[in-house]
Amino acid sequence: MTDKKKIEELREKVNYHNYRYYVLADSLISDYEYDMLNKELEKLEKEHPELVTPDSPTQRVGAELVGKFKQVEYKIPMLSLENTYSRDEVFNFDRRMQKELGINPDYTIEPKIDGFAVSLVYRDGRLVQASTRGNGVIGDEITNNVRTIKSVPLQLLVKRHCSLFVQEKNLMNIEVRGEVVMPKESFERINKERESQGKPLFANPRNAAVGTIKHLDPKVVAERKLDMIVHSIPHPPEGYKDHYTTLKDLGKIGLKVSQNTKLCKSIEEVMDFCDAWESKRWELPYEVDGMVIKINNFDQQKLLGQTTKSPRWTIAYKYPASQATTKLEDIILQVGRIGTITPVAVLTPVNIGGVTVSRATLHNSDEILRKDIRIGDTVFVERSGEVIPEIVKPVIENRTGREKTFKMPENCPSCGSKLVKHKGKVAWRCENLQCPAQINLRIEHFVSRNAMDIEGLGKKVIAQLVEANLINDFTDLYWLKKEELLKLERMADKSADNLLQAIEESKTRDFFRALFAIGIRYVGIHAAKLLANHFPSINKLKETGFEEINAIPEIGTVIAKSVVGFFENPDSLKIIERLKKAGICLVGTRPDVSLPLSDKTFVLTGSLSDFSRIKATELIESLGGRVTSSISKNTDYLLVGASPGSKYDKANKLGVPIINEEEFKKLISR
Ligand code: IVH
Repeated sequence: MTDKKKIEELREKVNYHNYRYYVLADSLISDYEYDMLNKELEKLEKEHPELVTPDSPTQRVGAELVGKFKQVEYKIPMLSLENTYSRDEVFNFDRRMQKELGINPDYTIEPKIDGFAVSLVYRDGRLVQASTRGNGVIGDEITNNVRTIKSVPLQLLVKRHCSLFVQEKNLMNIEVRGEVVMPKESFERINKERESQGKPLFANPRNAAVGTIKHLDPKVVAERKLDMIVHSIPHPPEGYKDHYTTLKDLGKIGLKVSQNTKLCKSIEEVMDFCDAWESKRWELPYEVDGMVIKINNFDQQKLLGQTTKSPRWTIAYKYPASQATTKLEDIILQVGRIGTITPVAVLTPVNIGGVTVSRATLHNSDEILRKDIRIGDTVFVERSGEVIPEIVKPVIENRTGREKTFKMPENCPSCGSKLVKHKGKVAWRCENLQCPAQINLRIEHFVSRNAMDIEGLGKKVIAQLVEANLINDFTDLYWLKKEELLKLERMADKSADNLLQAIEESKTRDFFRALFAIGIRYVGIHAAKLLANHFPSINKLKETGFEEINAIPEIGTVIAKSVVGFFENPDSLKIIERLKKAGICLVGTRPDVSLPLSDKTFVLTGSLSDFSRIKATELIESLGGRVTSSISKNTDYLLVGASPGSKYDKANKLGVPIINEEEFKKLISR
């Protein structure tokens, strides 16, 4: 193929993916693949300058406008960043900077936030305009949507709250630019909601942020909990000489800036910082896909200037991608500890963010249908932080017609019993309590570190013990005898002693750990702690009804139902009896007396005369109660002070008891 033809083909591809990414917020390929296509095109065009045309995607800064909002024109265009995945190129960049400046410059280094570029304009300290990048020169005005983002100040901090002196003169009339992001937590919550409503899921937090900010209804935007991190200042404010100091000062006048920036004296220091953040970035609440290296001094930046695409004084060092496309070779079934069947994708191994991924979760069979995932498809796989990789969607365009739709098998892959799906549930289940896959997993969970922490009882030994019929559930562990253990392959005298000793020691574990170890569905370690703090013993928990369990803060209906259901099962009661007999601690440290405000929920409104809100909250909590911010029919009391807000009317409407400060004092002195 001639280079001319190659260029044409690449342009077509880049244009298409550009449109999917920027206009539709629905990309088909990973960022990495997209960047590689662009790079290839740039390289070829560099080799053949005569073939560059004004309509090439390399000649344009951003993307098409969506066109539903008012437009804003930028005097200083919102440019892109030159980016690289290669360390060598970062060192080349440094050499170029040194050569052009004739000195060894200082750099600032900061996270490259994977969000959506937005410009904010402040006049006299007030936010007057927010707009998207659009094509870099003309963007969409989205002030009302941005106003709903809590981290964007509507008014910059005034002097008395701010340690800066100069701010009124220099920083009250500024334009700043930054990234709007959707924190990973909100992203997960919103996708869960969308899933339950049968709506298409967002592929990643960035797409979710774009989809949200372009929503025409600011109410919807507000619910989605976006965040904005400011990273640049197109016109350096008067009196400021460098990026680092300016950024720090922007942080002081109320704007959110990254706390993870560093001023560096050399490119080696810059690279060390990049390396340190490669894994640490996963701990941040939002996605970071690289680091941005910037010449710190504004005069030096000016001297270096810019190309039509990007400033020449900065470069982004990008970390290996966390998304990729690969082939779905097969779908297999995994049996969970409580019999839930999870379809698992078997993938052609692919490197995602430095980790080889060959398996991904498909959640349940409904999801496979909804996403229309077929065996043989090219699929879009995403790995975010420590979570199990997920299949986002198939690449329909790559279908050959030979793909096979997935059909849920009728029988359990482990024990062969018929799988069942309960009304209103999405998961198929194997309900055979004797299913070997489940027996082993339940025991593995029981002995795991957060649970009973029995050392020396790995998967293999458990499988051997079950296989040899020495144990059938975890309670049997406490009746194991040394001579039985010695019959196992590769079990020496000493290891048998150690194992018995570890089993014996596990009897001293706290109540909450035992409660977690038992493996009640949905009861994780945190819920187990809440239950163990609330109930003095497993007997009390067993006798308690749904309402009381459900009323415990943070325990929702799903957990409460599951706990009640667990104790209704005669098999569970047998297990509890066996554990008691073995001497496992099933009582808590909490004395069996209830506090005066136990399980009572309060909402506060208006100003109280004898307590601050914080004091009143502390007092209520110390007496066993709980304070929430909004009224519902589950609220026990609305505590009203002077000039109450709308909560007062709402409480009246819902029939929630309303008490004043005097009545409150009486209540707590009872
Ligand atoms: S500085 C273009 N700093 O990444 C010069 N940009 O992929 C000013 N970005 O267009 C930008 N984190 O929207 C800068 N710490 C950071 C950034 C950052 C993310 C965005 C920015 C840029 C895009 C390029």
